Amino acid sequence: MTGDRLAALAEAFAERTGHPPEGVWAAPGRVNLIGEHTDYNDGFVLPAAIDRLVLVAAGRREGGRLRLWSLQTEPPADLELAEVGPGRVEGWAAYPAGVAWALGQAGVEVGGADLVVDGKVPAGSGLSSSAALECATATALADLHGADLDRPTLAALARRAENEVVGVPSGVMDQMVSMLGRADHALFLDTRSLATEQVPLPLEAAHLRLVVIDTRAGHRLVDGAYADRRAACEAAAAVLGVPALRDATPGQVEAAAAALGDPGRRRARHVVTENARVLGAVELLRAGELDRLGPLLAASHASLRDDYEVSSPELDTAVEAAVAAGAVGARMTGAGFGGSAIALVPRDLTGQVDERVHATFAAAGFGPPEVSQVVPSDGARRLA
Ligand code: GLA
Repeated sequence: MTGDRLAALAEAFAERTGHPPEGVWAAPGRVNLIGEHTDYNDGFVLPAAIDRLVLVAAGRREGGRLRLWSLQTEPPADLELAEVGPGRVEGWAAYPAGVAWALGQAGVEVGGADLVVDGKVPAGSGLSSSAALECATATALADLHGADLDRPTLAALARRAENEVVGVPSGVMDQMVSMLGRADHALFLDTRSLATEQVPLPLEAAHLRLVVIDTRAGHRLVDGAYADRRAACEAAAAVLGVPALRDATPGQVEAAAAALGDPGRRRARHVVTENARVLGAVELLRAGELDRLGPLLAASHASLRDDYEVSSPELDTAVEAAVAAGAVGARMTGAGFGGSAIALVPRDLTGQVDERVHATFAAAGFGPPEVSQVVPSDGARRLA
């Protein structure tokens, strides 16, 4: 893929600016294997970067203007860098402009720049197109302006752009894995200490495939349900008297059931049990027992559906159909409220899973989903 895409993007850059780009950078989307809605609770996550890249062709320009184009999204933007900040940029441009702002806040002297984005990570699919765009922009601008920042720092700045300029109170999982992902590995991340471990995910050797079922029922995090869940977790931590739900045990949550009320108790129960499931999944992967992940994936999905209430009829249907067709396990991935599910599928059964998911969606009267395979891949990098 990348050769043709690279050439087309460089050409698109030249058409718009009159000269070739100084370079092309890329950052991946992600799936999260397990550990959902735990990252803003200081908890554990286990995502993997995937072979769905956002590309950014970039070059410096005189003066202080940031010009932004996307091959997929209109309109382009032409902004004065000094005027970029929280609440001041509309639409898709808030992601790259927010990154330029965050780099500036960190002391990087970001000058004028032209950026052309080729963002093939499907927006709204729950595969973190926004983090991919932020991380590709962050690596591009940091390289162009000679900023020597390590990857966790760039991830933190990309997240800051999303939190403060885009206005979504997301955790740090997506940006960390888009920056730090490694081929054939999942990233075990402690979102409190930011300690990481690359955990082998040898799908090929295990004759498994990682299948993504995009329900095409798009989600928009800006819509407030995400922020509501986050607020509920902070309230529950306050009731429990802990700094974050990361510090609570299932026993503490049950003992405080009356004080937590409903849905507070269920929200907290999801987070504490999900953290334990991540640790269980990491143990299985360290032992090379990928084929035993099924029960943890199932329990995670049930908890997100029943306790956290962020699944959707389409996601539930996708998960049930995949498992019925022979998947080792399946669950919704990402924030939920639509978006995608993942399934771990024996190599020989991928066709069956695809057919059954399509048939079940049709029978339920849902629009057609998109079923595809993804490969755990490397994080952000310069391509040219
Ligand atoms: C979104 C956010 C992440 C994380 C997930 C849910 O992807 O960007 O920080 O909270 O939702 O696990």
